[in-house]
Amino acid sequence: MINQNIQFFIGKGGVGKSTVSALRALGAANSGTDTLLISLDPAHNQKDIFELNFSDKAIKVSENLHIIEPDIDLWVKKYLKDAEEKLQGNYHYHQAFSLKNYFKVLKYAPAVEEYAMLMAFSHYLEQFKSKQQVIVDMPPTALSLRFFALPGLSLKWLEQLIQLRLAIQEKKEIISKIKFGNKELETDKVLLQLNMLNKSYLDLYSIFNAPNSKIYVVANPENLSLNEAERIIKKMQDIELNISGIILNKTTNQMEISSKRLTFSQLEISRFKLSNSHLIGLESLNAYLNQFNID
Ligand SMILES: Nc1ncnc2c1ncn2[C@@H]1O[C@H](COP(=O)(O)OP(=O)(O)O)[C@@H](O)[C@H]1O
Ligand SMILES: [Mg+2]
Repeated sequence: MINQNIQFFIGKGGVGKSTVSALRALGAANSGTDTLLISLDPAHNQKDIFELNFSDKAIKVSENLHIIEPDIDLWVKKYLKDAEEKLQGNYHYHQAFSLKNYFKVLKYAPAVEEYAMLMAFSHYLEQFKSKQQVIVDMPPTALSLRFFALPGLSLKWLEQLIQLRLAIQEKKEIISKIKFGNKELETDKVLLQLNMLNKSYLDLYSIFNAPNSKIYVVANPENLSLNEAERIIKKMQDIELNISGIILNKTTNQMEISSKRLTFSQLEISRFKLSNSHLIGLESLNAYLNQFNID
């Protein structure tokens, strides 16, 4: 079981998920924690923030910090190829079956993008399992929610499919006993696949629910953003995942959250002050960390 500290940053577009992720990652690395910052947002904001061209290969930015921005399109291709091979392996009569020519359309098929994100996420988590701290810069709300919902949803589907497959297998066994006496049925490839999938979604589900995994909602101290943060918290509760805290970004001294917002009352609130200089480049990020004592 993975024992890393993982922090996810979700929220509305423009609230500062990427900036806060960058600051948190750099702060942790500066205090000696071996850190990986991974961006699952296809928009790839980290390369603008650090002014470096990140890619699928992790780049070492400072002593303890690696940053990676996986090409989600590439992972979509991998996911489709994987699905195609599994289909061909299980159903021989589909030998001529190919998804390759449909990539441009299938890329937009429901759930494909979030499956690809999950594949990329678990791949890099495994590759960087020696990192003590993993910071995940997430895409805007809708895609993030689908990403978090997917393992739980897939497990519910798989549970039904496995039951169905077992029932089919049982019927097949009865028929084969009648026909061939006690001859053993060959192992059911489909059931094996379903069980493997079940294991990988269970692993992801446990990662999202692990005590060391924290999901933070980033918001700005203004009504539209706070309303969206409240909606995110409720939607995450619907998919049975807990928010660990609120990051109130771009705060000034006068701004406070209204005490009427009961949704937030149980949550830890961390504040990130509004910077009057651009938070671009290692130097200005470090200057911000020094000025506001954030780790
Ligand atoms: N604490 C802050 N002070 C000043 N500007 C900020 C702060 N946090 C974010 N920004 C700016 O707000 C904009 C959106 O931030 P970004 O991190 O890209 O948001 P998101 O990833 O949520 O879309 C950027 O121009 C960024 O530099
Ligand atoms: Mg961003």
